[in-house]
Amino acid sequence: MDNRAIGFFDSGLGGLTAVRALQKMLPDENIIYFGDTARMPYGARPAGMLRRMARQDLDFVAAQGVKCILAACGTVSSTAPDVLGAYPVKTFNVLESTVRETAKHAGKPVGVIATAACIESGAFQKALAAACPGTEICAVACPAFVPLIESGRFDPGDEALQSAVAEYLAPIRDAGAATLILGCTHYGLIGEAIRRFLGEEVLLVEAAQCAARELADWLLSGGLAGGAGEELYLTSGSAEAFRALSSVFLGRELRGEVLHVPEMEV
Ligand code: DGL
Repeated sequence: MDNRAIGFFDSGLGGLTAVRALQKMLPDENIIYFGDTARMPYGARPAGMLRRMARQDLDFVAAQGVKCILAACGTVSSTAPDVLGAYPVKTFNVLESTVRETAKHAGKPVGVIATAACIESGAFQKALAAACPGTEICAVACPAFVPLIESGRFDPGDEALQSAVAEYLAPIRDAGAATLILGCTHYGLIGEAIRRFLGEEVLLVEAAQCAARELADWLLSGGLAGGAGEELYLTSGSAEAFRALSSVFLGRELRGEVLHVPEMEV
């Protein structure tokens, strides 16, 4: 048993969907979450900068004394996998587990939606091509989604969200995708809007869920699960705004403190 916290980080609130998924399986785990809201959106930044930021985020979270770190961000997972993999603390990304899960349903065309930096990296496309050879892949960057979601516009009836969904998902629908990877951890919140457009029969594979499951398996199989359900949230943005929106991502009121931390210089 290891009672140290699990560290999570993301550009903002999206990674809380991974916390929620993890806590469903292991509610007693202690959580330390860093939402780098001041530097959000990550997906509009160049890969070199994202790799430096990934290292900074890892160092910041590791300094809290965690037992492992989940990069709860598709953008970091796809642009800096080697930075994560070489880190001295055990890390998880949201890419590999998601591709493994998707491969179980291979055969029909697969859609991938994620941030611009994530899609441009080609990481999901490459991993999918290797895991399910011959499967048609339709990958679409959705730069408007994260800013919309972080500003609270995730209601399926929201007009701006609906028109962004229609614009981004039309090629996925036209490709006849039977499975859609939500490659950005924010997108779990707009699953309903996506389903309304694509239809109920499309299988949504959430990166946040897959990674949380992989992490839980690792803790359980290594005898490392354990904690007292304590939570600490750190954000480089407004602590009040973080707290106000967090319940939608977590599916419950946030426990514990939300502290503002200074923005790191890239
Ligand atoms: N949740 C992040 C991801 O999974 C969002 C990145 C962003 O801020 O653009 O990619």
